[in-house]
Parts: sequence; structure tokens; C-alpha cells
Amino acid sequence: MAKRPAMTIARTRKEARQWRAAMREAGKRVAFAPTMGALHEGHVSLIRLGLAHADVAASSIFVNPTQFSANEDFSTYPRAEQADLDALAEAGCSFCYCPNPTEMYPAGDSTRIIVKDLSHILEGEVRPHFFEGVASVVARLFLHIGPDVAVFGEKDYQQLLVIRRMTQDLGFPIEILGGPTIREADGLAMSSRNAYLTADERACAAEVSGTMHDSAAAIEAGQPIRAVTDAAAARLMANGFASVDYVEARRADTLAPFGAEIAPAGVGGRLLIAARLGKTRLIDNMAFVRK
Ligand code: PAJ
Repeated sequence: MAKRPAMTIARTRKEARQWRAAMREAGKRVAFAPTMGALHEGHVSLIRLGLAHADVAASSIFVNPTQFSANEDFSTYPRAEQADLDALAEAGCSFCYCPNPTEMYPAGDSTRIIVKDLSHILEGEVRPHFFEGVASVVARLFLHIGPDVAVFGEKDYQQLLVIRRMTQDLGFPIEILGGPTIREADGLAMSSRNAYLTADERACAAEVSGTMHDSAAAIEAGQPIRAVTDAAAARLMANGFASVDYVEARRADTLAPFGAEIAPAGVGGRLLIAARLGKTRLIDNMAFVRK
């Protein structure tokens, strides 16, 4: 078996900065893919994408308390640090930051990053606290690690746009890359939260990607947006979903509505779905454009 190179693990900002300084000294360009752990192929794909754009890959594992609300799954979120570290090393990752919580949020911490507007639509409407928590932790991770490139999954498309906006607004000298969504054989987007699904729910879960593909195709074919998204929500409800938070077809660049009954030709769109299956919330999205 091939011997894999050792991976440096840091638990403090000081250790993270030491590693970064050593990389700078060695003239290495660093790509960074942050995670909350419970890693799957989707996460690993971001490490590989990072390595295609830099000399070394770094990751982080931190279940970020500020992006969970009191009634969400912070305490039960899957945690598997050793298996995660093995998977990262296997993928060729050189460094993993697993910060002690006080490194991210020191005693008395009261600083938050708010990306206005974009944070309060779609996911932000259902989870009002969420993007403030994400932006606040990603800004800290960027400051502690100082990557040249940072990689985020299109699986969380709105998150990717929020991070791009924050990076531009705060002037982080970091190139943001989006990686394609990695899926199970039946189309279900990989997610750490898929582990919550019962066997029956797992059998229904692929309906999200099926509905998404059919809806995007219908909008590309010129069918009225609202009729298509209403039918998509009805299809999910008829297939065992407990509720549908949203099915929306928006402009891909801003997530603003098209403001037209039929998607305008040649303008990039994004079909976004969030729905609940039992206690599990699934999200997915895909690109479309009407010819
Ligand atoms: P987490 O859900 O662990 O996801 C970490 C990264 O993996 C994110 O960029 C996410 O979009 C990406 N990802 C998840 N599932 C994917 C899939 N099936 N295919 C491709 N990429 C996928 O997103 C977070 O953590 C957190 O909000 C974080 C950015 C780490 C801040 O706490």
C-alpha cells in the first residue's frame, strides 16, 4: 500500500499561523476547504479541486455553534474526527485545523459578520441565524489560515454566493472556487445529514433530485416558472415529504427572482429546493438556462 504523507493537525490559531508561515516560506500556494466533519465524497472532492489550483491542500473540521439555532441539531450533528482525518490525509490534504472552540469564539466574543440581503432570502428566511454564523466562522477561518484559494461546494449554492460577497466586500485576498455537487448513484446529493434518514426515508430522498431535474428541464423548455415550481412542491408532498420549505427558480448570480413569468433566454438560472423528510431537511440545487 502506498505510504501517505503525514498531515499536520492544528488546534490553535497560533499553530495554524505557524503552518501557514512555513508554507509561505516554502513558496507553496495553499487551497483551503472548510468543513464541519462527518466527511463524504463531496468534501473529499473539494480537496482534490483545491489541489488542482494550488500546491498544498488544507481543511478544517469545526461544528460551528453560531450557525445552528437552539432548535437545530448542533449537539447531535455527526462527529467522527479520526475517520475524517484519515479521509483527508488519504485525499492528499497536508493540514487540518480542528480548532478548540475558544480559538474561534474567545470568552466574551461579540463580533459577527453580516452579509445583508443575500443572507435573508431562501435559506435565510427559513434559518434567519444561519448565514451570519457561516460568514462569522469562515471569516475567522480565513484569518487563521490565510489561504490563497478557498473551495466551497455548489451543494450549498447560496452559501457559496454569501462567501463570495463577503470575500469581495472585506477584501480577503482569496480566490473562491465552487465545486460541483457529488451525488449518490440514485441522484441524492451527498450530505452529512443523510445519515439521519431512515431506510424508508432514504428510498424517497432521491425524489428531490428527480424533481429538480424535471423542473429545470420544464423551465428551460419555456414553461411558466410558478406553475413548474408549484407542481414540484406538490410532487414532493405526494411522495412522502413532510413539508416543502421552498422550490424556487432564481437568477444564478444574485438569487433574485426573474420578475417574468417565463425564464428569459440566455440568462443563467438556478433551481433551488429545500424540503423535509421526517425530521431531516434536504437541500439541493442545479443550474439551468433557457436557450
Ligand atoms: P459542511 O456541510 O461540512 O460542508 C463543507 C463543504 O462541503 C461546503 O463547501 C459544502 O458545500 C461542501 N459539500 C457538502 N456536500 C457536498 C456535496 N455533495 N458535493 C460537493 N460539495 C459538498 O458547509 C459547511 O460545512 C459549513 O457551513 C462551513 C462552510 C464549514 C462553515 O461552518
